[in-house]
Amino acid sequence: EKIAAVLDAFFGRQLSLKGKKVLVTAGPTYERIDPVRFIGNFSTGKMGYAIAAEAARRGADVTLVSGPTDLPDPAGSVNTVRVEIARQMLAACESVFAQTDIAVMSAAVADYAPKHFVDRKIKREHDSVDSIELVKNPDIAATLGACKRAGQLLVGFALETGATADAEANAREKLDRKNLDMIVLNTLADKGAGFGTDTNKVTVIGRDFAEAFQLKSKAEVASDILDCITDRL
Ligand code: C5P
Repeated sequence: EKIAAVLDAFFGRQLSLKGKKVLVTAGPTYERIDPVRFIGNFSTGKMGYAIAAEAARRGADVTLVSGPTDLPDPAGSVNTVRVEIARQMLAACESVFAQTDIAVMSAAVADYAPKHFVDRKIKREHDSVDSIELVKNPDIAATLGACKRAGQLLVGFALETGATADAEANAREKLDRKNLDMIVLNTLADKGAGFGTDTNKVTVIGRDFAEAFQLKSKAEVASDILDCITDRL
């Protein structure tokens, strides 16, 4: 009976996203200061790429909008669109969002970008750079949340560094503010979670539920997240 149940669950979810259009953002953004320098972060894109690959495996038609990463394009029905800065990521998302059923925002978008791009390498000898003026980047998840239609499902991520209770409250605040349907919380306080690792430990939070998962490979975490999504389609 146990074997039958495992096989049933496996094959049951195999094509559970057939006919669905899924948008995934992944990786960091690099906001250029000059031709050789940028403001960015340590995101590797592994979590988002795993979600894109698993959604395609389940039959979805996937658009993966990726910031700079070392990862190869996922195989299968994934259209990978490579961008560098937040504004390009927003434009790529906006161009497909109206036709999207499920959007998963796993990119670590830089919050700020330099106001001015210096088109020659800033030289140490000549220029004194007391400060780099920054301007706020658009919030891609919130922008999509503001024009979300009934039937579209928008999922965000919350990477927290603080204590668990605060982390969950912050994640719920983001869920409301960005008009998300679900938010995946991971905290850097958990060993093996967050940037760069091949594993992650997440809690998936919705308006009326919260499900905490164990530390797992990012492929398995992707599968758990997509299970949470398909259960609520
Ligand atoms: O506000 P915070 O950056 O913590 O929110 C994280 C969530 O919002 C993630 O889903 C991330 O992909 C998304 N986000 C975004 N555009 C931004 C900042 C965050 O889409 N400029």
